[in-house]
Amino acid sequence: MTERVALVCSERGLRIDPDLPLAAAALRDAGLAVDLVRWDDPAVDWHGVSLAVVRSCWDYAWRLDEFLAWAGSVPRLRNGVELFRWNTDKAYLRDLERAGLPVVTTVWNPVRPDELPDAAEWVVKPSISAGSRDTARWSEPSAALAHVAALTLAGRTAMVQPYLDSVDDTGETAMIFLGGRFSHAARKGPLLQRGEGARQDRDSRGDLSRAHPTPAQREVAESVFGAIGALVPGAPTPLYARIDLVDDAAGRPVVLELELTEPSLFLPQAPEAVGAFVRAVEAELQQ
Ligand SMILES: Nc1ncnc2c1ncn2[C@@H]1O[C@H](COP(=O)(O)OP(=O)(O)O)[C@@H](O)[C@H]1O
Ligand SMILES: [Mg+2]
Repeated sequence: MTERVALVCSERGLRIDPDLPLAAAALRDAGLAVDLVRWDDPAVDWHGVSLAVVRSCWDYAWRLDEFLAWAGSVPRLRNGVELFRWNTDKAYLRDLERAGLPVVTTVWNPVRPDELPDAAEWVVKPSISAGSRDTARWSEPSAALAHVAALTLAGRTAMVQPYLDSVDDTGETAMIFLGGRFSHAARKGPLLQRGEGARQDRDSRGDLSRAHPTPAQREVAESVFGAIGALVPGAPTPLYARIDLVDDAAGRPVVLELELTEPSLFLPQAPEAVGAFVRAVEAELQQ
């Protein structure tokens, strides 16, 4: 019998996720039946698929309880609700830091200027967010703290980080893992403009290219990926993962984001990597 795989998206993801056509075509070429579905579509029979793989559920950040309840109800879902519960709140950066891994300096819910990290500019973001929503870059301590206050007043957790200038030239390096091992890397250009404030509609799809990671980036990414099992006991090895690295002021790679929920895989930038995605899905089906 043909195995049926669901690639799971939001309504918008279904329309414009550039990975999706490549992933679906390659899975079909490998002999699998592929459904492209919305996670919140009540008509989908989640028991009728051999495996559901979350791909571009881009609306989870403002529907988190609903999303996690849905994830907990799907019989065979990757990366799975245990990893999603941990990974949908950037508080996981604290766990990575406690595990001795290099992460971008972060101060949580500061109220006074002297609590801000040492920097000329700051990034303020909510701990639960995606697509740089409610995220902004500030050069005045009072503006950064006002943004923090607005987030905490709304019951959210605010994170403040130094604005890392390396994002403007070197860019952000997205390290993609498929089927438990490193696959390929992509470079993302900067997103936050000075003086622009918080926005809801940034589009990160413009400035993307293939990247060739340095040995130091490989080492950090491998250690972070290797640490996940101990940080989320009982969770399966991630089928897919993306680790975004930036250089800190001293030029060392640090983790900006570990994305285990709905990472872009940058398949258009590295089309041959689609084979690793197919093998990861096939290996999962054999378990
Ligand atoms: N500390 C930082 N320094 C420079 N740019 C940052 C920093 N934090 C975030 N950004 C920019 O904002 C974008 C979104 O932030 P990120 O932490 O990746 O959250 P998310 O992608 O979940 O919204 C990043 O891709 C990067 O362009
Ligand atoms: Mg990001």
